[in-house]
Amino acid sequence: MKALEEAYRSHFGRNEGLYHIFSPYRICPLGAHVDHQHGLVTGFAIDKGVDLLFSVRDDARVSLVSLTFDGDVEFDIDTPSLVKQGNWGDYARGAKYALRKRFALTKGIDGVIRGSLPVGGLSSSAAVLIAYVMAFAKANNISLQPFEVVKIASEAEREYIGLNNGILDQACIALGKKDGLLFLDCDSDEYRIIKRNPSMPDFEIGIFFSGLTRSLVNSDYNLRVFECKTAAWNMLAYKQSPLRPFEKTFLRDVPKSVFEETRDIMPARFARRAEHFYSEYRRVRQGVTAWETGNLQLFGKLSFDSCESSIHNYECGSPELIAIYEIMRPLKGVYGGRFSGAGFKGAVIALVDPAEKENIERALTEQYLARFPEYESTFRIFWVRPADGASLSEHKLQAGDMN
Ligand code: GLA
Repeated sequence: MKALEEAYRSHFGRNEGLYHIFSPYRICPLGAHVDHQHGLVTGFAIDKGVDLLFSVRDDARVSLVSLTFDGDVEFDIDTPSLVKQGNWGDYARGAKYALRKRFALTKGIDGVIRGSLPVGGLSSSAAVLIAYVMAFAKANNISLQPFEVVKIASEAEREYIGLNNGILDQACIALGKKDGLLFLDCDSDEYRIIKRNPSMPDFEIGIFFSGLTRSLVNSDYNLRVFECKTAAWNMLAYKQSPLRPFEKTFLRDVPKSVFEETRDIMPARFARRAEHFYSEYRRVRQGVTAWETGNLQLFGKLSFDSCESSIHNYECGSPELIAIYEIMRPLKGVYGGRFSGAGFKGAVIALVDPAEKENIERALTEQYLARFPEYESTFRIFWVRPADGASLSEHKLQAGDMN
């Protein structure tokens, strides 16, 4: 917090009326690439994320500084949103855009923001969007239920940032709980936190960062979403069922029995995307039961299987991510894991036995760098735990700092 406080004071020179938002990153052990097709997902918020320290201004100006990215960001919160500027401030502009669709905004903020892990694949974009939505809501006396925060931040990402994603990231970040697994149905929006069964062994979450980062807007993420919808359209057309507009077409609306009938007559590429969806649906259901009964071994195995399906059916994963997955799968103490997030670049996550952390770290580092020596300085391993979702609190500067 010290660096954030110092940056805040040197930029804005205020000591009072400060708020702190912690918006965590998220991981998804099971239920990947299905949220945008209204599937079933699971996830955790983790104890690393984005910190935003801010105060409310008397006027409509938003003034932001980042400890992670260069350049200041300035805009007015009470005017229509401009087109994207192509810099980190777009996330704040996106949050304004989505909130302004619902509420009048008149008050801006002075804020300093910082991310705590230099890693792709943990959904830092949803974490910052949620932080800004919460901050702008606070500044304008708007009280939001956690699920409204999910919806608004998700609209910002889809409509303003331009990623056709689902609500997995936002839901984990806003609704996560440290002692349970989030289970969400992205069709009905029903969710529950499934508490850890007391008989379940302890675990920590390993984050194995390949060394590569990439923005999802420029990856094949959107293409995969369209492939899934095309599979659904194919199946509906074959059954002579009415078609909906493409944007309202989801694999969830097509029964699995129709997929069984049609899989061999649609282009194999689309059939593979649908296979991922239906098999992931089954894995999440089994995984929820495994979690409820404290069976971490089975939960982990399903997460591994989910990653296999991402590689072969969903066809994502760079050679680097696939290598990390292959190396970690047989290691002692790794219960399970998969690519994190969209799986095009970024990180692999794993649930591991804390007693084996050091051995896992050593084996993974040696074997990965033997295959990809070019990432010697960028390959990183972090250990985290599940955490509560995003929170806002009043923030007092330390007495010694108030000069
Ligand atoms: C990214 C997207 C999410 C979800 C995951 C894959 O994180 O933002 O909506 O689709 O990929 O499960």
